[in-house]
Formats: sequence, C-alpha cells, structure tokens
Amino acid sequence: MTQRDIRAFVFDAYGTLLDVYSATRSLSEELGPNAQSISDLWRTKQLEYSWLRSLMEAHSDFWNVTSDALTYALKYHDIKDQDLHARLMSLYLELTAYEDAISTLKKIKKHKHTTLVLSNGSQEMLDKSLESSGLQQFLDKTISIDDVGVYKPSPQVYKLATDYVRCHPEEILFVSANAWDVAGANHFGFRVAWINRFKRPPEILPGGPELIIDSLSELNQLYKFSSN
Ligand code: 2OP
Repeated sequence: MTQRDIRAFVFDAYGTLLDVYSATRSLSEELGPNAQSISDLWRTKQLEYSWLRSLMEAHSDFWNVTSDALTYALKYHDIKDQDLHARLMSLYLELTAYEDAISTLKKIKKHKHTTLVLSNGSQEMLDKSLESSGLQQFLDKTISIDDVGVYKPSPQVYKLATDYVRCHPEEILFVSANAWDVAGANHFGFRVAWINRFKRPPEILPGGPELIIDSLSELNQLYKFSSN
C-alpha cells in the first residue's frame, strides 16, 4: 500500500491531536488528589452524552455536552465551585497539542498532502483550540459534525470527509487515538491508523485498524510522505 492510494489524511481531534487531559493538569493543585479521576470522568461522560444524545435524537453541540459532562464530574466529586467549572471550560479552548501531532502534520503538509480534522467538536471550539495549539497552520480544513447534528461514530459524520474530498472512503487514511472511532471509521470504509496513546486493547466492534502505532511520527515511515 503506498501513499499514492491516499487522497487525504484525516485526523480525529480530541485525544489524537489535542491532549484532553491538559486542561485538568493545569489546575491539578486546585483539584487535589481527585484531579485524575475528575479528568477521566469528564472525558467518559462527554463521550457518553454525545452518543446518548445521538440515540435520543436530542442533539446539543459538543461545547454544551462538554460543559454538562464537567458539571457531572465535579458534582460526582462534591465540588460546587462554579468558577472552577468556568476556568476548566476555558482551558478546553487552549488544549495542548501532542508533540508528535505538530511534527507529523508539518511533515505531511510539507509534501502538500491534504490534511483534515474530522471531529465531534463544535466548529467554534475546534477553531479556537487548533489555532491556540499551533496546529491550524498545517490543516487544510476542519470539519465539525455541527452541520449533521449527530456524533461519530455515525456514518453520516465520516461521509462529511468523503463529500469534502470527493473520493471513495478507502482513499482516506483516518487517524484516531479513540478505539471506538477507529472501529466506526473503518466500518464506514476508511483505511485507519490507530495511535494507541492510552494503551488499550481494541474494541470488540465491527471495523478495526490496518495499523497500530505508538506515535504519529510512525506515519511518516509507513506512508513515506514523498510528493505525488
Ligand atoms: C473527536 O475529536 C470526540 O475525540 C473525539 O471527535
């Protein structure tokens, strides 16, 4: 398989390019010994609420879902500080990019390949955090689910990328750190690389990765980013 078969490199955002745990890390002293547990619960509830709302046909954008999930996580830990909620939400717009995300996107762009983000995030929150993390300059387009009003892993979302590139699903290499997203994207027909940042076993779901990597920089060796 060579990169000539690939029309676009499409990345998930949260957990793949952006470190979702960087927000709570910045306030870890204030959050105290429960910081990690709050962070994990925040992420878990954020995903659950997105999927549940899709099933319930009760869409709300990812900013609201993220806020509701944080409210739950703080409540669970008996924290009532509204200011803390506001500060964590604003830090979510300034998430840190993973180091390998910056260097890899830069390399792919240098060779003039198409680079996209396809994320459950709302357009506004994606634009802000991709800009502040320094990733925006290496991306051709950021596609949010805002227009379809349903969350990944719905096939309607993955189709946004093939519609944009005007290509077949198998001409896209999708890259995600989220195993559920890896399954969904491959089930739709994308070729998928799973960056297993969180050292998890694969999900027992239809669809899976064609390769599993430890760092995004491995994409460079595997797909040889030479010019077409
Ligand atoms: C995404 O960026 C939520 O990580 C997921 O779409």
